[in-house]
Amino acid sequence: MGLSVKILNDYKAVSQFAADFIFNVIREKPTALIALATGNSPQLTYASLVNKVIHGKPDVSQITFIGLDEWVGIPSSDSGSCHHFLFHHLFEPLRISQKRIHLFDALSDDLQRECIDMDNLISEKNGIDLMVVGIGMNGHIGFNEPGVDWNLHSHVVNLDTITKTVGQKYFDKVTNLTQGITLGMQHILNARYVLLLANGLAKSEIIKQTLEGEVTNAVPATILRLHTHAMAVLDVDAASKLTAKKM
Ligand code: PGA
Repeated sequence: MGLSVKILNDYKAVSQFAADFIFNVIREKPTALIALATGNSPQLTYASLVNKVIHGKPDVSQITFIGLDEWVGIPSSDSGSCHHFLFHHLFEPLRISQKRIHLFDALSDDLQRECIDMDNLISEKNGIDLMVVGIGMNGHIGFNEPGVDWNLHSHVVNLDTITKTVGQKYFDKVTNLTQGITLGMQHILNARYVLLLANGLAKSEIIKQTLEGEVTNAVPATILRLHTHAMAVLDVDAASKLTAKKM
């Protein structure tokens, strides 16, 4: 029980470790359900994974991929959308079949239906085998923002101010970000494995709070300390404020 910690030298090492982990899950369970975050943290992991899959040739044809979250109202053609990110960095290079990919449709006029459909798919697959997630500057995972109800599954949320501000980095021009649609804390708690990726000094304070502060929904990532198989994979910079450092 708990959140184990792996500290590696740099972003490249974090990404290679994470890519190996995902690759092994794919090899062990070729029908796995894998939930993927977007953002800067997992970007190199996905590039490494693409390389490993192209060379190692595991059968990925039966893996189902779901998206962790999406910006409500942002079209999938926008390069800042989570949809665009996953297709560009992973699904297109690996030629994953459309029928194996389930992402929230953030333009849907029935977002509740999107949530129900996602939850039903996860139930049909007997749960998520692996979640690959980053951590926001406010401790969010996906769009599970500070104060989130830990009993939720998929849901629509008004974005935290920090998320709206930091999120601008993904977009070419200033973009009005108001709501998100996301997997919930229950999905995170019940996933077989969760990998939390963080690198860089900017994440060091929130990583310290996540690993050493109080377990509280004010810092949603602290829920990972209640998980049975969650691992934080950090570079030395993200880990630099931890009191107990494990390499
Ligand atoms: P990042 O985003 O990987 O781009 O830092 C993390 C997050 O907000 O979840």
